[in-house]
Amino acid sequence: MKKQRQSNYTCDVLIIGGGSAGLRAAIEAHDAGADVLIISKSKKGDPHTTLARGGINAALGTMDPEDNWVVHAADTLREGEFLADYERVEILCKNAPDAINELVTWGAKFHREKDGRLTQRFFGAHTYRRTVFYEDWTGQEIIRVLMEQVNQRKIKIIDNVYIMKLLLLNSDGDDANRERLSSSSKAQGVAQVPNEQEQEQEKIKGAFGVDIEKKEFITFECKSLILAAGGYTRVYEVSSSRIFENYGEGIALAYEVGVDLVDMEMVQFHPTGMVWPEQAVGTLATEAIRGEGGILLNSQGERFMKNYDPERMELGPRDVVARANYNEIISGRGTEHGGVWLDVTHLRKEVILERLTTMYEQFQKLDGIDISKEKMEVGPTAHYSMGGVVVDINCQTRVTGLFAVGEVISQIHGANRLGGNSLLDTIVFGKIAGGEAARLAKQTGKGNTKKSKDASSQLKSKNDTQTNGFGDNDDDFYDGIFVVKEPIKFRNKLQKVMMEYAGIVREQTRLQNGLEQILELKNELYSNKRHINLKESVIDDNNKFENIVLTSQVKSSLISCEAIIRSALIREESRGAHYRSDFPKLDDERWNLNIYCRKEGNGVSAAAEMTLFKHKVKEIKGRLADFVKSHVKAAHHRTFE
Ligand code: FUM
Repeated sequence: MKKQRQSNYTCDVLIIGGGSAGLRAAIEAHDAGADVLIISKSKKGDPHTTLARGGINAALGTMDPEDNWVVHAADTLREGEFLADYERVEILCKNAPDAINELVTWGAKFHREKDGRLTQRFFGAHTYRRTVFYEDWTGQEIIRVLMEQVNQRKIKIIDNVYIMKLLLLNSDGDDANRERLSSSSKAQGVAQVPNEQEQEQEKIKGAFGVDIEKKEFITFECKSLILAAGGYTRVYEVSSSRIFENYGEGIALAYEVGVDLVDMEMVQFHPTGMVWPEQAVGTLATEAIRGEGGILLNSQGERFMKNYDPERMELGPRDVVARANYNEIISGRGTEHGGVWLDVTHLRKEVILERLTTMYEQFQKLDGIDISKEKMEVGPTAHYSMGGVVVDINCQTRVTGLFAVGEVISQIHGANRLGGNSLLDTIVFGKIAGGEAARLAKQTGKGNTKKSKDASSQLKSKNDTQTNGFGDNDDDFYDGIFVVKEPIKFRNKLQKVMMEYAGIVREQTRLQNGLEQILELKNELYSNKRHINLKESVIDDNNKFENIVLTSQVKSSLISCEAIIRSALIREESRGAHYRSDFPKLDDERWNLNIYCRKEGNGVSAAAEMTLFKHKVKEIKGRLADFVKSHVKAAHHRTFE
């Protein structure tokens, strides 16, 4: 049997995630003088961001000069049904023009008008044309530009690394303070978010995972760590994410070290994913198709959006269009493969080829159709998670040195995200997170550096004694790292449960049924766990190695599933992406609240409890409040029955 090898890296700022949030954070941290290391599960230059198609928003006013950051922020808040934190929305929208200009300076080739102005197109629920784009593969163009900047700075990226656990400096299992807080959080009604000052400040130390290609365990040590590890929409069977991404791993990593989650019930279903052929189900048909004039038709040829949002039609809010599609399908007016029609055959072929390039290729390749001549078959697909990890305005979690950014965090998009705001959020908050993480790393000074030297020497001894590289007790260190047989079966099951019981339309009995099934799966997973024996080589056993990663993926997914359903059960109203058929109206009196999830109890086991508490949404203040009051509130209540 081959002996288990182990690698070890130390740096000032460790970034988990090689998408636009992680890359932008890395650039900022590097420029602030930090030694930065990016680790990524996906291949270098091919993160989930490359799937972001339609564009990135900024109130540049190149097409509609009336636009400005206040209108952009008001649109963002309204789309999110006023659940977002307005201060974050302000930061997002005020910084948007600079973010675009920076990308342009770095070489992004966004589409331009003949006179040189950046072109901006309509996306759903925007007051003005605001979305800047590169054909219909804007995310890929942004990644190209950011990768160039990362490479110029010689920032190291290690790809094919799957992180399974975050390491804390004082990870001695002392959870007493959080226990105390939990009892107050169980109080009925609106509990306050516990005062973070009162909590013992834990500190980040690093991360532990596997190098998927080398098939070995790998340990990282850092002064600051930025989680930029994506969202949790892949816990649904039909999703616009690829099969290996967005299982809520970032959410789980933070939750396991005591960071709260919030708004987890808010899962955005994009109205138009492919429904056919089978291997393409869920793949995004970009909103840019509707932005360029595409229309939706049911099987009777009716342009049905007139019945749901007669004013904005196909460019209504995403939740409204997605539910309209769903409603047409379940009411028997769907297509042969269970979708509706998306039609651009009335557009000039040059426009399609120039502005919807990848869509033209995608439908030709996957569905064998020419979209300039034939209609596309589409239906809702789980696309974006608005909920996630709780961070402050500087992207700092309650664990000192642990930052988070991108889809893994929450409270920027509220109950529903405005199309084109996600790329923007990764750039704006990526920059903030990178700067803050570097600043903190500098302050940390020698403390952790000494530790890293210690770690290296302990690592040497690891090779002889089979400890974990930090000299910690193996039992504690590997708490939560285990393997089960056939993890794919668990994954398939949970995805089906989520789709069927906690999907686009929810209702109490079904949610309860779904929760029971998720908890049963969780029990089954933990009762079938096998510890990974460090003395045993995993290198020679491909199957087992793969199962370690997949088991971790399932374990993470189950945390998101439980949080989604528990929060969805509690929220007895409909708001944005969360639609309850038994409570179809938005209810501001009772539910102008964010729902938080917290891990209670020690360690990682089926018995670790998730408790929930609520907190009132912050009142909007200042110029934005005046604008919202005078222009927006009237359009607020938009749920249809
Ligand atoms: O449809 C799209 O291109 C998606 C954009 C977004 O989610 O922002």
